[in-house]
Amino acid sequence: MCGIVAVIGSRDAAPLLLEGLKRLEYRGYDSAGIATLELSSKAATGVLTCKKANGKLANLMNLVEQESAPGHLGIGHTRWATHGKPEERNAHPHMDSSGGLAVVQNGIIENHITLRKGLQEKGIQFVSETDTEVIPHLISQELNLLKSNGQEASGSLLLEAVRRVSLKLKGAYALAVIWKETPEALVVARRQAPLLIGLGEGEFLCASDTPALAGVTRTILPMEDGETALLTPLGIELYDHRGQRQQRSPSLLHGQEDVVSKRHFRHFMLKEIYEQSETARLWVDRHLPLGLPEQAPVAFPFEDSFYEGIERIQILACGTSRHAALVGAYLLEQFAGIPTSVFYASEFRYAAPPLAPNLLTIGVTQSGETADTLAALSMEAQRREAYGDPAFISRQLGITNRPESSIARQVPNIINICAGIEVGVAATKTFLGQLLAFYGLALSFASRRNSCSTKEIISLTNELRALPNQLSVLIDKHDQMASTLAPLFLDTQNVIFLGRGINYPIALEGALKLKEISYIHAEGYPAGEMKHGPIALLERRVPVIAIATPGVVFEKVLSNVQEAKARDAQLIGVIPKEFAKEVFDIVMPIPEVSEWISPLLSVVPMQLLSYHIAANRGLDIDQPRNLAKSVTVE
Ligand code: AGP
Repeated sequence: MCGIVAVIGSRDAAPLLLEGLKRLEYRGYDSAGIATLELSSKAATGVLTCKKANGKLANLMNLVEQESAPGHLGIGHTRWATHGKPEERNAHPHMDSSGGLAVVQNGIIENHITLRKGLQEKGIQFVSETDTEVIPHLISQELNLLKSNGQEASGSLLLEAVRRVSLKLKGAYALAVIWKETPEALVVARRQAPLLIGLGEGEFLCASDTPALAGVTRTILPMEDGETALLTPLGIELYDHRGQRQQRSPSLLHGQEDVVSKRHFRHFMLKEIYEQSETARLWVDRHLPLGLPEQAPVAFPFEDSFYEGIERIQILACGTSRHAALVGAYLLEQFAGIPTSVFYASEFRYAAPPLAPNLLTIGVTQSGETADTLAALSMEAQRREAYGDPAFISRQLGITNRPESSIARQVPNIINICAGIEVGVAATKTFLGQLLAFYGLALSFASRRNSCSTKEIISLTNELRALPNQLSVLIDKHDQMASTLAPLFLDTQNVIFLGRGINYPIALEGALKLKEISYIHAEGYPAGEMKHGPIALLERRVPVIAIATPGVVFEKVLSNVQEAKARDAQLIGVIPKEFAKEVFDIVMPIPEVSEWISPLLSVVPMQLLSYHIAANRGLDIDQPRNLAKSVTVE
């Protein structure tokens, strides 16, 4: 995870680095640091200044304000701890022993223990527990070696040293390096972790994600996997993993990637929950315009060949994206009639099922950078390629909110959910966007396979068209209601979420949201499973939140809920207003809609209740402890 920013140009680097890091803080916020290089009038080498602070970025900002970090070249880092506790000594940038070379890194160096031992045997002393610290020492050694062979300090020499070191590193990482002997050179490298270059006016920025470029440039050059680049005031030199010079044209950032403002909302998460009606409106406008033919009820940019011959689907994802995948699987199986399996991407990597023919693999990741999801997709593509049978050929689709991310470069087909940038670490509007993508897919497959009637297809598309307005009203109502209910949860330590069928994944998502931002222990169960064990947890102090919407399992959920009531549990029902309200202590009403579409609405009370419970406890909602928005490590 972690965010890195680097800049070289004519302006003071420190404010640009800090502003960039502020916009990347969602990637990690355990500690932060910057290193800057200033040209010295007295010496050939530059003056390197490094400032680090434990905790949130605000601590580093105060430090830099008091002590300053001059220079037009610099690197910055906001950390999500992997190796070593969140302490100042483990904060990046890390330096070589001379203090003249600084490195920031996002990722994991898997062979750092062996490398560290080798360096220690040569007398190098380490000051941190991080995996990253081996890198500046290794680069420094390579530079010494190159210089001892008569080569002069230059940007190219630094680039060569970084390239040589990268051959020794195992793992996934993105890094940026500065060296006081080359005060006009910045070297960056990318191996399976995101990094892109922004081309500003008289300056270049390099960052883990596009928000860091906001206000500086919209012209970007995303780095490809395995590339290394040398950035100087004269331009960019880009090299592939073999050291071959690469020439590529930059592209323009589209959409709202640079809009990172809370507006009048107290937290990004609340703003993003409110934005869901707009996410739905844009989706309906784009994919369900009026007048589409019955046989193609969704406007997706795929040719017929994309759908042809698909007999089964597997979906790979993590966390909230996996919950969206579970709803998707329900729709694809029950509405479109395609056998569909969902896997934790992290499990799939090491225990994939035997290959099945004519199968579409879908990767779901809002960030497009989740290491487990990307690796699972890549592993699946490779084993299919190796198999060599045309029926088993790799067919992949990615569902993401970041069309410029790694997944979009890795898989041939993409559904961009276009939810706009999501800053809150707890996913909300991107979850809704992912769900909508699956509704679109299910409709597309269903109409092609005649798995349900035209009437059913028209009915679902009409319900989807009504969704934006329904969401808008529902969000307003539940924002108020959840803020009134939140004080009841002040001492709550455990919450059970129940759902069945298409709403079971929403129970899982409700529990995940509550855990993530309020730190209350919560579990989601299929309501019918309660009696097989979890019911032992129930008592007066354990609220049970049950989703029950009219449909196949409505009566079943109500019976399961009665079992909880008999154990004194406080019952909260997410149900249409007039249904079975006598069963529940509290009702969080949702509109009466078909069971198919109900997850798109039942998730809203879950999100808002979690939000207000956490807000009522005074917690840091947008940056919950131990989490990060983009999980780019295994
Ligand atoms: C969501 O609230 C979580 N922060 C987390 O579970 C997230 O969904 C997961 O890490 C997957 O992220 P992705 O969608 O970017 O792949």
